[in-house]
Amino acid sequence: MSQTNQKGGGAPCHVAIIMDGNGRWAQRRFLPRAEGHRRGVRSVRRVIEAAAQSGVRYLSLFAFSSENWKRPADEVNALMGLFATALKKEAQAMRENGVKLRVAGDLSAFSKDIQESVKESEAMTAHGETMTLTICANYGGRWDIVEAFRNILRKDPSIAQEPERVTEALVDANLAFDWAPPVDLMIRTGGEQRISNFILWQAAYAELYASPRLWPDFDENDLKEALDWYAGRERRFGMTGEQIKALGHGE
Ligand code: FPP
Repeated sequence: MSQTNQKGGGAPCHVAIIMDGNGRWAQRRFLPRAEGHRRGVRSVRRVIEAAAQSGVRYLSLFAFSSENWKRPADEVNALMGLFATALKKEAQAMRENGVKLRVAGDLSAFSKDIQESVKESEAMTAHGETMTLTICANYGGRWDIVEAFRNILRKDPSIAQEPERVTEALVDANLAFDWAPPVDLMIRTGGEQRISNFILWQAAYAELYASPRLWPDFDENDLKEALDWYAGRERRFGMTGEQIKALGHGE
């Protein structure tokens, strides 16, 4: 996976979103936190559609982090229920819209029902060519990197004797979503400015955009604002602004 798209310019190829603020959205309305997640699913639907229409080729959403198991049991159960229902309900629409669904994360901790739904939805949308949607579930950036190294060693234990054979390309190819290019734009809603162990390796040069909007309120106009902001960014990948201009990418 090479770094592409040196100026923000057009649409980012890969957008990753930390969908934060569901709990606060609900609490402000004296509703259970689960209601915020339920409303969050509406934003997921809106944003998938708007991203595909804007020319985004890869959209990755942080639905459930490795650390979210620490939440109260009823909230975890509500999130699991929403995930299972949404997979079943949305897969057909995704297929019709050319969206290929993939799920990244350690699914072994999920119920058999969810694991089956994931397989079915992935198979059903496998031919989608407009946009690849990756739902990150029981995912963590550090988990992903550790798993990549474990996979490398599992496949070829002799590499431990020749560590210089470990390259960035080899790590890339063993990450949870080896199907996606590096992240161009990472959006976090809900006003915080943290990465919270979301995609780490592939976001090394991502532009970071923090939206004050709580996730259930985030809509296509907010996405457009983020994409417009990205279009004006100069991406330098470790070079100077002058070098980028000389390459003709900086205008
Ligand atoms: C963070 O809000 C959000 C989550 C932990 C879960 C996001 C899940 C959804 C939007 C619904 C299910 C997703 C799919 C793809 C079907 P928070 O609870 O941390 O909010 P807070 O910071 O206001 O407490």
